[in-house]
Amino acid sequence: MDNQGTIYADYQATTPVDPRVLAKMVPFWRNSFGNPHSSDHAIGWQADKAVQAASASVAESIGADPDEVIFTSGATEANNLALLGLARRAPATRRRILVSATEHKCVLGAARALSEREGFAVEVISVDREGFLDFEELEKRLDGDVLLVSVMAVNNEIGTIQDIPRIAKLLTAHGALYHCDAAQAPCALDVSDLAMHADLISLSGHKMYGPQGIGTLYIRRDLKETMEPLLYGGGQQEGLRSGTVPMPLCVGMAKAAEITRDSEAEKERKRVAQQRDMFVSLLKNGNLPVSVNGPTSQSRHPGNANICFHGCDAGDILGVLQPRLAASTGAACASGIPEPSHVLCALGLTAAQSDASIRFSFGRFTSHEDVKNAAHLVESAVASLSSEATSRSV
Ligand SMILES: Cc1ncc(COP(=O)(O)O)c(C=O)c1O
Repeated sequence: MDNQGTIYADYQATTPVDPRVLAKMVPFWRNSFGNPHSSDHAIGWQADKAVQAASASVAESIGADPDEVIFTSGATEANNLALLGLARRAPATRRRILVSATEHKCVLGAARALSEREGFAVEVISVDREGFLDFEELEKRLDGDVLLVSVMAVNNEIGTIQDIPRIAKLLTAHGALYHCDAAQAPCALDVSDLAMHADLISLSGHKMYGPQGIGTLYIRRDLKETMEPLLYGGGQQEGLRSGTVPMPLCVGMAKAAEITRDSEAEKERKRVAQQRDMFVSLLKNGNLPVSVNGPTSQSRHPGNANICFHGCDAGDILGVLQPRLAASTGAACASGIPEPSHVLCALGLTAAQSDASIRFSFGRFTSHEDVKNAAHLVESAVASLSSEATSRSV
C-alpha cells in the first residue's frame, strides 16, 4: 500500500480500499456502467443484477436476507434513517429513546433532533471506565414506552466491544427495538449472526476496506413498513431510500464484506491485535508518560490503541509527526471541533486528559516495521516537545 511515505495508523477513520475490492469495482465503471433502475434494457438489467448480488453478499455477512438491506451513502445516513425513520412512524405509546453515552455523533445528533424538534424523550445510558454499557441503568430505564435503544457494536475511539446478545435479550423482554451501529464491527469481530440480535444495523463501506460514500442499513423485514424514509423521489429500494443506487460502490462494499468473512479474517484480527499490543508495549517501555484509554480486556477492537500522553497536547504531538505518521485525536468525523472527546469524557477522563489523547488504529496493511517506526516517531515527537517546553520555561 503506497502511503507516500506516511505510516498510516488511522484505520478507524477510514481504511484503504483493498486492491481486490478495487479490481472488482473497476469493470462496473468501464463496461457495465448501467443504471440499476433502468428497467427497459439489458444494460440496466445487468446493473440491477450486480446490485442484487451485492445486497446478498452484505446481507450474508450479518446473517440477514438480501431484501432486508438498504444501501445508503454511509453509516451516518444509515444511523439517521434508523432513528428518524423509525421515530416518525412510532406509536404514540412509545416516545422514549435510549442511547449510550459513547455513540457516534451522528446517532447522538439524530437523537437530539428528535428530542428538540419532535417531542421524543431521549435518555443517555452511562458507560464504565472502559466504555462498557451500564446494564443496571439500562434495565432500570427500560419500560413499555421505550421505542428504540441504540448501542454501537464497537466504539470508534476506544474500541470497546459491547455485549450485543445481552443487550438484545434485555430489550426483547420490554418490546423495545435494538439499533446497532456496527460501522466499526466487521474488522473487529465475527458479525455473521448480528441480525439475530439487532432489529436495525448500520454498516459503512469505508470502515471495512471498501469505498467511501456507501453504507447499508439492515431493517428487519417486518419493520420496513414502520419506517418513514428520509429521502423522497423515485421510490427506489422499496421507497425507503430514493435515489439511484451507486452500483460500483455497492459491488465494492459487497466484496469488502466478503473478505471480512473469509477464512483469513480471524487470523488477520489476531495479527493486527499483536501489532497493536507491540506498539503499546514499545510506548510504555520508552519512558513516556502514557496510559491506555478504554478496555484492558480482549473485548476491544484489535487495531485500536487510544493513548493518553499525560501533560502533553495531542494536537501538538500529531503536528510534529506530520507528514510521517497519520493518527488522530478523537473521532475523525469530528476533528476540527475544538472540544474534548465526548467518548473520553464519558469514561470519566478530564478535559486535559482527553486533549492529551491520541487514537492510533492499525489494520490489514500495517507491517511490523510500520509499528516499530511509528512507536519510535511518537517517542521522538514527545521528547522534542518536552525539551522545547523545558527550554521555554528556563
Ligand atoms: C461507529 C461509527 N458510526 C458511524 C460513522 C459514520 O460513518 P460514515 O463515514 O460511513 O458516514 C463512523 C465514522 O467514523 C463510525 O466510526
